[in-house]
Amino acid sequence: MFDVWLKSKITDKILLPIKKEIIKQIPKNSKVIEIGSGTGSLLFLLSKKIKKGVGIDINSSMVNFSNNKAKKLKIKNLKFKLLDAKKLNSSKKEYNVAISMLTIHTIDKKSRTNLLRKMSIMADKIIIVDYKKSKLLINLEEMLTKHHRHFIEYIKNGGITKIINESNLIIEKHIKTKNDAIDIWICKKK
Ligand SMILES: C[S@@+](CC[C@H](N)C(=O)[O-])C[C@H]1O[C@@H](n2cnc3c(N)ncnc32)[C@H](O)[C@@H]1O
Repeated sequence: MFDVWLKSKITDKILLPIKKEIIKQIPKNSKVIEIGSGTGSLLFLLSKKIKKGVGIDINSSMVNFSNNKAKKLKIKNLKFKLLDAKKLNSSKKEYNVAISMLTIHTIDKKSRTNLLRKMSIMADKIIIVDYKKSKLLINLEEMLTKHHRHFIEYIKNGGITKIINESNLIIEKHIKTKNDAIDIWICKKK
């Protein structure tokens, strides 16, 4: 539960300006899926603008926190599911937008490309938000969350732009955020 506390009380607040920027990129009444939804904070901020939001996360504490919050706030258009992104299986366009924020860098090399390919099967618009460089604080956080090995390899390998290329996607828009280490890439299938 410490991870949920840390995320909801600290990280979500730090990331709020970036999430507001993402919201501007999502058309009204969209159906949205977020891979690695954490505490669900992005989908909660979006809930009034969109038709439906589905969050998937591998961490049951995050999923329980998000579903309890939706119940408490009587938000009916959001659902959170316990699922490993590697097992995501969809053969049709169920969503308008698929988002992954600060999750791609935590996944192994092969699964990252597979995930982006699957996201492009599920939705026309793919929004990826992730690190563009390494910094001391990020390294410490990645060590704490045990994602450091994948993060180092992700940075060495060329980061998001390389993965986007390898996943048969093209970048429609690259948005620099006020955070000097995190950017937003809006993509679609080649
Ligand atoms: C850094 S958090 C970001 C959460 C949220 N997207 C945000 O930006 O506030 C990364 C999230 O991805 C989830 N995650 C990591 N690997 C995953 C996987 N293979 N499948 C689903 N979720 C995963 C973690 O449990 C965590 O909640």
